[in-house]
Amino acid sequence: MTNPPKRLAVIGDPVAHSLSPAMHNAALQALGLTAEYVAIRVALDELESFANRARNELSGFNVTVPHKNAIIPYLDSVSPEAEMSGSVNTVTVTPDGKLRGESTDGYGLRAALREAFNLERLSDAPLLFIGCGGAARAVAFDLAANGATRLMFANRTVSKAEALANALKKPYPDLSLEVMPINDIGALKAALAENPVLIQSTSVGLKPDDPSPVNVELLTPELRVFDMIYRDTALLKVAASVGCPNADGRGMLLWQGVKALEIWTQTQAPVEVMRQALNRARNGA
Ligand code: ATR
Repeated sequence: MTNPPKRLAVIGDPVAHSLSPAMHNAALQALGLTAEYVAIRVALDELESFANRARNELSGFNVTVPHKNAIIPYLDSVSPEAEMSGSVNTVTVTPDGKLRGESTDGYGLRAALREAFNLERLSDAPLLFIGCGGAARAVAFDLAANGATRLMFANRTVSKAEALANALKKPYPDLSLEVMPINDIGALKAALAENPVLIQSTSVGLKPDDPSPVNVELLTPELRVFDMIYRDTALLKVAASVGCPNADGRGMLLWQGVKALEIWTQTQAPVEVMRQALNRARNGA
């Protein structure tokens, strides 16, 4: 490593609940680096001053909700996919103090799907998103760039799904795209009949008592169900009872962190150390 990182961070608001410090500090220690990774709560109106301080004080930082889009104007450069998706989760501070932004969320989701469902190629199944907010948008362009051939979006606000589909159509004209209202049972049934990988990307499920955002009576064992939320949601519970292969968002959190660390250190990340730290932190150990 030519330039080992010194100080790393995750910013968000709130951010105290973040599992990233546990995961990254375990990895840094395993790599024998003295760098530390801290959580910093940054309010929206503090983003610019934070970004300016980061140029001198940090080697890199992760960005979590609600700042993945708002950070972009304060960066010096942004990768093409992050630019299109309007989402940055990983910022590298270059030796001359420039801020370079990219997103590792799409990579994280791809690696998690591969691990959970043996999904080697994204073209092997349609991907049906339940939800079309920032989380879906953050990964959609990466999926399209990495072999996805059919993306479907079911959302409460259909115009948001249409806007994303239109944005994807320009750089990826061969991509097969479909949008539907989340409560349109007929359209959902038709989509589910294609045996897609279902990707839950709404915020419904973050609270323990949240219901499933999609009608669970439609689930069949042929579906693979991935929930971006990293807890056992109502959707995942039904998926398990129906017999669907299913996974929560921990895999995505892990692999987006692996990629971020590899960007900062230019070294292979200790994946299993990070996975164990993540599981320990999630279980409150
Ligand atoms: P973001 O700022 O990332 O878009 P958000 O507003 O919390 O985040 O919404 C994330 C996703 O959860 C969206 O797809 C949102 O649907 P809308 O686009 O219709 O707002 C979805 N969502 C939030 N609450 C929901 C609910 N009660 N039922 C269904 N979908 C919901």
